[in-house]
Amino acid sequence: MTTHSTFIGGNHGPWKVTHMHTVAGESLDWASHLRIDLDSTPGRDAGVWALTGVASNLRYTERTEKEALTAIQAGLGRPEAICAALIPIRKTEAWWALSQDERRHLFEDQSHHIQTGLAYLPAIARKLYHCRDLGGPFDFLTWFEYAPAHAVQFEALVNALRQTREWSYISREIDIRLVRA
Ligand code: HEM
Repeated sequence: MTTHSTFIGGNHGPWKVTHMHTVAGESLDWASHLRIDLDSTPGRDAGVWALTGVASNLRYTERTEKEALTAIQAGLGRPEAICAALIPIRKTEAWWALSQDERRHLFEDQSHHIQTGLAYLPAIARKLYHCRDLGGPFDFLTWFEYAPAHAVQFEALVNALRQTREWSYISREIDIRLVRA
């Protein structure tokens, strides 16, 4: 079973947008609120923009990494995690032209994405949605939830990841920050 989720930016929803920052590529129009529909077709109220992704299988995570992550990661929806980030990302054609082993090498051996991210668990809860094969404008929709007390750490994490070789393959990135309305 696939689990589609559609992130709808518009004028209502349980999350209030605090900032929208275009890190790379074309921007996305301002929306004051966000809601998440568990459906791929937003219907008549599609908002200002609607981005659909699907929770998928792991591509790069190795067994020991998977065990380390599951041992400490927190789930979404913690009452204290009133801050969130939706960061849609598109990678370059050069990235997609690489082989699986080359991508894994860049992702972890060179960029230490998992090793870096692990240090921020369980403070930051996360969920990754894939959308490259759905034909939308992004390849991934990344979602994070954290308590206000961990906002500084989340900044350090995104800044660290943006310095990596992996990020040199990112052609479009919008950083959308939210608080529970
Ligand atoms: C993929 C962990 C933070 C963006 C992954 C994967 C893991 C991971 C394990 C690989 C999934 C697979 O095997 O397919 C973490 C951890 C984080 C974190 C533990 C700490 C909270 C972030 C942040 C961003 C991000 C802050 C964005 C600014 C992505 C993207 C992918 C990804 C775009 C997909 C990469 C691809 O398939 O090419 N992350 N991550 N991650 N993560 Fe993170």
